[in-house]
Amino acid sequence: MATSLFGGGRMSSSSRSRHGLKVGLVVILVVGLAPILISLNSGSASSSSSSSSAAMGGHGMGPMGAWGMRDDSGKTREKGMDAVIAEQKGGSMVTLEKNKDIQGNNRHLNTNQHPRHRTLDQSQSTQRSRDIHPPVLKETTGNYEPPRQPYRTGPGEYGLGVLLNHNEKHLYDKAFEEYGFNMVVSDRISLDRIVADLRDKECKHWHYPTNLPNTSVVIVFHQEGWSTLIRTIHSIFNTSPKELLAEVLLVDDYSDKVHLKKKLDDYIRDPRFSGKIRIVRNKKREGLIRSRTIGARKAIGQVLTFLDAHCECGPNWLPPLLAEIAVDRSTIVCPTVDAISSDTFAYTSQGDGLCRGAFDWDFWYKRIPVKPYWHRLGLKQRSQPYPSPVMAGGLLALDRSYFFELGGYDPGLQIWGGENFEISFKVWMCGGSLKFVPCSRVGHVYRKQVPYSYPSSGVEGVSVVDLNYMRVAEVWLDEYKDSFYATKPLLEGKPCGNISEQVEYRKQNCPKSFKWFMEEIAFDNLQEYPPPAKNKIWGEIRSVDSELCLDTNGAQNDPTHATMGMEGCHGMGGNQLFRINTRGQLVVEDGFCLYARPNTEKLIFAKCTAEKSFTSETTMWDYDSDRQIIHLERRKRCLDHNQETSKVFVTPCQHGEISQQFKFYKEEIR
Ligand SMILES: *[C@@H]1O[C@H](CO)[C@@H](O)[C@H](O)[C@H]1NC(C)=O
Ligand SMILES: *[C@@H]1O[C@H](CO)[C@@H](O)[C@H](O)[C@H]1NC(C)=O
Repeated sequence: MATSLFGGGRMSSSSRSRHGLKVGLVVILVVGLAPILISLNSGSASSSSSSSSAAMGGHGMGPMGAWGMRDDSGKTREKGMDAVIAEQKGGSMVTLEKNKDIQGNNRHLNTNQHPRHRTLDQSQSTQRSRDIHPPVLKETTGNYEPPRQPYRTGPGEYGLGVLLNHNEKHLYDKAFEEYGFNMVVSDRISLDRIVADLRDKECKHWHYPTNLPNTSVVIVFHQEGWSTLIRTIHSIFNTSPKELLAEVLLVDDYSDKVHLKKKLDDYIRDPRFSGKIRIVRNKKREGLIRSRTIGARKAIGQVLTFLDAHCECGPNWLPPLLAEIAVDRSTIVCPTVDAISSDTFAYTSQGDGLCRGAFDWDFWYKRIPVKPYWHRLGLKQRSQPYPSPVMAGGLLALDRSYFFELGGYDPGLQIWGGENFEISFKVWMCGGSLKFVPCSRVGHVYRKQVPYSYPSSGVEGVSVVDLNYMRVAEVWLDEYKDSFYATKPLLEGKPCGNISEQVEYRKQNCPKSFKWFMEEIAFDNLQEYPPPAKNKIWGEIRSVDSELCLDTNGAQNDPTHATMGMEGCHGMGGNQLFRINTRGQLVVEDGFCLYARPNTEKLIFAKCTAEKSFTSETTMWDYDSDRQIIHLERRKRCLDHNQETSKVFVTPCQHGEISQQFKFYKEEIR
């Protein structure tokens, strides 16, 4: 991890693949270029703290100069960089022979070479493309920093939220129902509003390579609102350097809203977009995942940047993403995702600092703060890109031809869900990497509800999303798929379609195991969301005498107010699906455990990761199927309930006490 600030820089190539034809690849090996920033920072253990404290002090010029990280090699590098800029300004930038493969063969596509060897080669190499200068942090303002924008006034400017009047509540309700967010407020905010600059101050001082690849921004939409979609487009044009934006490619996933037809066709012809917007319209509903693949095939840019249809880009968001890909084309990058409120359209950070992507074992996306792992990750600057095991999925950029080398998204994934994990596991296990880029910020409207329905997955009792998760688990998780099925016991043994192509792809291209991925890349995930133990028994917990089911009532979301109890059995799993595992934990679906402290009747919900402080002989649950009791301390204390109040608690076990008798029941869960 600590070998390079900006990734291995194994091999760089640029390719033009208009019409899907590979025109050329360049592989330039550089022997003599060490990763400069590393050597600059490796001098003293205190350098990272001194540089960050310098940066925090406003303009950040420490006594050692910019960020206290200079030496001769750095100056040399910067001079080289300035020269390139000067040449570009003078209109005579040296054109490198991009399309010529100086090695005489194309390593990425050379089928004679065993792919395992190929990937191994790459990961051990320190090759760096001669024509790409990695980003450099300097005192001066960064080369792609936009000039200060003229001051703007109006609702929502600078990312402020906009409120409706009380008498507009009916508009609000209608908008939410139709779009899943407050379209009334969105309509009142300028399509060209400027959002807050939430970047770390350091970000303004990064200098990026001047020969960055261009990108197609691919946006899939389905039944999207007008102003949110158009603001996304305006924002891309307003914040991206012209030469880097090859096009904005809209993929209409079979919408039927009138404003998304001719009105949109006409709008995108506006000269302000220089003919750079195209629309592809699906003939049937394909879902987000397949629509992205459709967009990727049609795109003309060297890099694919996928955004959602309700985003706003922060200042200078694009070059930091493209730079990582330029330095190492097997890098997938994600911007920092800011939150745009679905109520007020206020633009804010998610507020928890630098985080890495993670997941629990039924594939809920999680965020884990970077801070405790700072040194293990080899980080020096708060504003530098850092590796993340997985991505949230909505916003990402990657080299277009690399996307296809990775096999794209599994075409068996339907509509939405799981593709973020698939591509994350794939890129790591097949020799690439995934990075989060703090200096690139893009806001995204988080919907409260999805305003359209999902089709059925075609498999009885399995939702589209679960079917996707199963495919990902079956192809990528190896022995860890037991953890997935332990968490989602209803899915075990269900069919998930034909995965033979994905399995074959992995065999041919991906030398790493999931165990390697978890231990080397997702080590924090392993710590924060450890794999669950095997289930001993699972199902609804039904009272023997009343046909009521144990129900968390959402207590895991709101432990101070909600209390669990007995409710009518709904047969839908979720809050009523419990399992006792070999560690003696009583677990509800999303990783929360039910604990009974010694000597009290009260039950407590806590994340199962809190197991160290909770788990002991006295808090281990077991089920006695003869006596039908859920008990602690070898049948000393029992789960009990009050039939009148429906409350649930723990009391001393009493033979034959009917309120202590429960059965695990799974026959009617759908
Ligand atoms: C993108 O960059 C490639 C390589 O420099 C170039 O050939 C192509 O014309 C560019 N595309 C657009 C639309 O600017
Ligand atoms: C699964 O797909 C592969 C490749 O597309 C095909 O060869 C194979 O026959 C399929 N298997 C089944 C059971 O349909």
